[in-house]
Amino acid sequence: MQNRENSMSENALRNIDLNKVPKHIAIIMDGNGRWAQMRGMPRTMGHRAGVEALKRIVKFCHKIGVKYLTVYAFSTENWKRPQSEIGILMSLLKEYVRKQLDELHTNNVRIEILGDLSPLSADVKEAIYYACERTKNNSGLVFNLALNYGGRAELVNAVKQIVDDVQKGKLICSEITENTLEKYLFTKNCPDPELLIRTSGEMRLSNFLLWQVAYSEIVVVPECWPDFNENSLVEAVRIFQNRERRFGGIKKVEQTND
Ligand code: FPP
Repeated sequence: MQNRENSMSENALRNIDLNKVPKHIAIIMDGNGRWAQMRGMPRTMGHRAGVEALKRIVKFCHKIGVKYLTVYAFSTENWKRPQSEIGILMSLLKEYVRKQLDELHTNNVRIEILGDLSPLSADVKEAIYYACERTKNNSGLVFNLALNYGGRAELVNAVKQIVDDVQKGKLICSEITENTLEKYLFTKNCPDPELLIRTSGEMRLSNFLLWQVAYSEIVVVPECWPDFNENSLVEAVRIFQNRERRFGGIKKVEQTND
C-alpha cells in the first residue's frame, strides 16, 4: 500500500517543476472534526488521523526541497473548545514531538515555534523546548509549529515591543518601516510564505499569519486534513506554479508593450 502511494506521488511529481517549488508553504490543517464525524467517529479520532497526515506531509516537504513549512496546530481561539478536546490536542502534540523527534533530527529538520507557549502545561512545554533545542543547529527544512498562535496577537505583541524599544531609545519612531515590524514577529527569521494551503474547503484565514500572507497564493482544497496527502500537496504546488504573481504590479509583457 505504502509502495503504491509512493509511486503515485512519484508520478504526480512529474506535474510540477521541482526547481520552482515554493520556498515556504503554510498550511491551515482544517477539517479533522468533520472527517471523523463523517465516519461516525469522535472528533478526536480526526485529530489522530490529522497527526498521521502531518507526518507524511513533513517528510514529503523535506523530499521535494521546501525550505520552510508552517502549520497551524493550535490557535489562540482554539481554547474555546471543550476542555476534553484541548486535552487530546495537547497530548497528541506532546506525543508527536517526542515520537517524531529522532526522525526529524536525522532528516536535518529544525523545529521552531510560532506563538506564546506560556499557557501550555509544563510537560508539553518541556517536550517542545527539548525538540527545539535538539534541532536548533539543523540546516534542512525549518518546520514551524504555530501553537497558541494568532495573527492579531502576534501584531499586538510586536507593537508593544516596538513601543518599548522606542521608549528605551533603541528605535526612532520616524524610522520604523515594514522591515522593522517584521523583525518583531514570530516569523522574523523566515521569508513570507509563497503558498498558503487550507484544507476542507473553507475560505478563511482564521487569524493565521495575517501580516505574512499579504502576497501569498492561497489554494483551498476540498479534502479534510486527514485525507490530505502527497498527491494533494503536489496538486497545490501545480496550481501555485500556474498562477501569475504580480505583487500589485502588472504583467511583464504589458510593461514592454507600452
Ligand atoms: C482543525 O480541525 C485542526 C485543528 C484545530 C488542529 C490541527 C491539529 C492536528 C493536525 C493534530 C495535532 C497536531 C499536532 C501538531 C500534533 P477542526 O477540528 O477545526 O475540524 P472541523 O473544522 O471539521 O471541526
